Amino acid sequence: MSEHHYTHGYSAAVMAGHRRRTAENSAAHLVPHLRSGDRLLDLGSGAGTITADLARIVGPENLTAVEVAEEAAALTRGELAAQGIEGSEVVLADGSALPFADDTFDVVHAHQVLQHVADPVGVLREARRVTRPGGIIAIRDSDYGGFRWFPQSEVLDHWLACYLDAACRNGGSPDAGRRLLSWARAAGFEDITVSSSTWCYATEEEKEAWAITWSGRLRDGALADSLQRHGLMGPEDREQAARAFEQWARQPDGWFSVLHGEILARA
Ligand SMILES: C[S@@+](CC[C@H](N)C(=O)[O-])C[C@H]1O[C@@H](n2cnc3c(N)ncnc32)[C@H](O)[C@@H]1O
Repeated sequence: MSEHHYTHGYSAAVMAGHRRRTAENSAAHLVPHLRSGDRLLDLGSGAGTITADLARIVGPENLTAVEVAEEAAALTRGELAAQGIEGSEVVLADGSALPFADDTFDVVHAHQVLQHVADPVGVLREARRVTRPGGIIAIRDSDYGGFRWFPQSEVLDHWLACYLDAACRNGGSPDAGRRLLSWARAAGFEDITVSSSTWCYATEEEKEAWAITWSGRLRDGALADSLQRHGLMGPEDREQAARAFEQWARQPDGWFSVLHGEILARA
């Protein structure tokens, strides 16, 4: 298995953020194309909440999830079990070398995964190999350079600059959203539907949840370690940024928008 570079890790703060994801808020580009009975691979399933929604649409026995880390595979299994979904398989594998025969799936889905892999074009080629001709490869990734918030904050500007740096040094592409079309073309896809969409946090509850996940990532866990290791943000800097998120969340005028790129590519 090739080395992977996953900037966020699987701490409670990361999972609290990821568990808010649903097919409705994170896979709306794909859902209208899904049919009961579709054989679907969810690549990089992580917290597994989107996985569970997709399993309900295609039928649990038709869904396979892949995770590169045993810890994450266990999280996906736990979420599926907690939601009463039985019959889906969770496989430990790297997206760049999938343990499936050619043409195994009707649909391959990957949400917020390509931004973390060293060779996204190679993963797309592999996704295509395991998808039947005419099947769909559905990808969605955020684009950190397109994150916008209000009110303006120099501390949060510094956080974003440091995050971009850390994710790149970990071998990822934090601007993946804008690159998906180019990666799909480089992987040889010709029939590609492109879109973009956002998450928007403006209610008290949404802002609190966004601040909890980011302040937690800054204080402790894989991202905090990366920021420290790369000499980008020390403990005081990180605490200041964590507090800036919490202060932002308490502001009635606070607003945050997260840009995503999306593609639906035909195999
Ligand atoms: C940001 S999380 C997204 C999880 C889930 N798709 C979601 O949106 O909630 C990225 C996931 O991709 C997994 N991952 C990273 N590199 C991978 C690779 N090469 N192959 C398979 N999964 C990978 C990580 O372990 C992590 O769980």
